[in-house]
Amino acid sequence: MVKINPTGITHVGIAVTDLEKAIDDYSALFDFEAIERNEVSSEGVKVAMLKTGASELELLCPTKEDGPIAKFIREKGEGIHHIAIRVPDVPNAIEAAKALGLRVLDDKPRKGARGAKAAFVHPKSFHGVLLEFYDR
Ligand code: CO
Repeated sequence: MVKINPTGITHVGIAVTDLEKAIDDYSALFDFEAIERNEVSSEGVKVAMLKTGASELELLCPTKEDGPIAKFIREKGEGIHHIAIRVPDVPNAIEAAKALGLRVLDDKPRKGARGAKAAFVHPKSFHGVLLEFYDR
């Protein structure tokens, strides 16, 4: 099997209850290069990407009660939700992970911000960390 060659942590996803408050709290100390806001209504989440050099903090705030981020916060509170690893080819990473028997949560890449492809692997497969493959 050909292994996947990761080229960095693209971002760390952090679940928050109040997006603007979280942006203000992080920005009180850090002068981010850019702050980009997005909403993914299908996932029930508002997103802010805080650029920190080569990687980003991805603040995730629920917009509906039955979305995955709302559920995460109910069960665990605010905090680190996932880590995104940059891979050259997300569909290829999905197939390779499946071939290893990992619990891939996406059969096909989902759309991330800025045209990125993304896919998640269940925390059970990576020692308690929800891992995201990301190609940007
Ligand atoms: Co992410």
